[in-house]
Amino acid sequence: MQHDKVLILDFGSQYTQLIARRVRELNIYCEIHPYNKIPAQINSYKAVVLSGSPQSVRGDDALHPDLSKIRTKKPLLAVCYGAQYLAHFSGGNVAPSNTREYGRANLSFIDNQDLFFKGVSKGSQVWMSHSDTIKTLPTNGVLLASTHDVENAAYKIEGESTYAIQFHPEVYHSTDGKQILENFLVSIAGLKQDWTPDSFVEETVANLKSQLTNDKVVLGLSGGVDSTVAAILLNKAIGKNLYCIFVNNGLLRKDEFNSVLKQYEGMGLNVKGVDASDRFLNALAGIDDPEKKRKAIGRVFIEVFDDEAQLIKDVKWLAQGTIYPDVIESVSATGGPSATIKSHHNVGGLPDFMKLKVVEPLKALFKDEVRRVGASMGIDAQLLGRHPFPGPGLAIRILGDITAEKVRILQEVDAIFINGLREWDLYDKVWQAGAMLLPVNSVGVMGDERTYEKCVALRAVESTDGMTADWVNLPYEFLQKTSNAIINKVKGVNRVVYDISSKPPATIEWE
Ligand code: XMP
Repeated sequence: MQHDKVLILDFGSQYTQLIARRVRELNIYCEIHPYNKIPAQINSYKAVVLSGSPQSVRGDDALHPDLSKIRTKKPLLAVCYGAQYLAHFSGGNVAPSNTREYGRANLSFIDNQDLFFKGVSKGSQVWMSHSDTIKTLPTNGVLLASTHDVENAAYKIEGESTYAIQFHPEVYHSTDGKQILENFLVSIAGLKQDWTPDSFVEETVANLKSQLTNDKVVLGLSGGVDSTVAAILLNKAIGKNLYCIFVNNGLLRKDEFNSVLKQYEGMGLNVKGVDASDRFLNALAGIDDPEKKRKAIGRVFIEVFDDEAQLIKDVKWLAQGTIYPDVIESVSATGGPSATIKSHHNVGGLPDFMKLKVVEPLKALFKDEVRRVGASMGIDAQLLGRHPFPGPGLAIRILGDITAEKVRILQEVDAIFINGLREWDLYDKVWQAGAMLLPVNSVGVMGDERTYEKCVALRAVESTDGMTADWVNLPYEFLQKTSNAIINKVKGVNRVVYDISSKPPATIEWE
């Protein structure tokens, strides 16, 4: 890859990935590495950013990067902890702040003669989040901006392309944060803004072609965005040598297996649909523990996939839709760097397909970039905008044991809910939605008859990553119409409730 690159050194801040996403939004390629694992090919990076951290530079457990190959050698932007680090260990002074410096602040003094603040005016809102403050600038430090509570909010080092800011330009609430990052990366560090979805597709396809030559590759499609985009990229590179397998575990949404399979075929993919519903349902019979359900489904999926993969002669590679957040090595918030790298076990004792070489064409991309790459290759917007759906599917939305009849009931309920969201133009305002079938019968009355039937719970949440979520304030009229439609049309259900729990303390799925 011939792009200018930025190295982001992570000190464990909750915002580090946001820095990377902002940089990528500027069409500049960047990578996140732990502060203590600076890549050997440091010369291939054109600029470096130091992230924030929950640690204090004054503490015994302060994190010490080795900046000898960076400082004065390439443009450096130090954010929050980074800014304090440069001050504290280079002749300045950092102390606990008297006032809590958290939240919005305004730049009260700006030297906007400096390129760093080009286009940023006095009063611009920035986001602070720190408990230490820089009392004295480091040797050769030149003040660039202050806020009401923070005198040394931004500085540079005379004679270097080194800049430091106490605030977080990466968060949405720093109004000109993106402009400041662009000023530093483009105007000061001279990086080219050439990392675009089109360039990604062109280069990735070329790389896949030379990496895979005439080899056969197998890929499991799930109906989700990542596996679909990975498949389309590979299809562009190797065409019919890509063997896609789409397994129906019998726990998908109503009609989803057939409609998505058709969509895949329409995209020109070499795809085989495998209906293994019975195999999954048999394996799940009598299991009501959520974790046991997950394990059973995982095991059967591996068996089915392995059976299918073995039918492909001489297959050499397994393709996966792994994305960048899955492979970033993280620095734990409590100090000691903890590696959470996804491992691929190319060892014996595993299903045959797992012994294949692994190709992961999306592993440099964030989720929003996967969508943009998908759109640039012409993948249907509706498919790219689909809500997340759990791998174990409806199994973890049916509380208690699973039967074919319960799956049928939930599929009907779910379809009415999801189609309703689309009709009311609410689907894209919701991050994830679905229905839960509860192990509860309650009394109702239909016509003159007493009923004693199932209760379903509807769940719709807003979120950015599924880690935290809040329930969506859906219009009462929509809920009323949906509830009526469900009770009138789905035999076996006589009560509908709406879940108004946030995560935490609840989770999105009920199991
Ligand atoms: P929870 O229920 O933990 O869900 O708040 C967070 C997100 O993860 C999805 N989820 C799963 N996805 N296998 C998956 O592939 C699972 O076992 C699983 N459990 C939860 C859930 O749908 C939500 O998007």
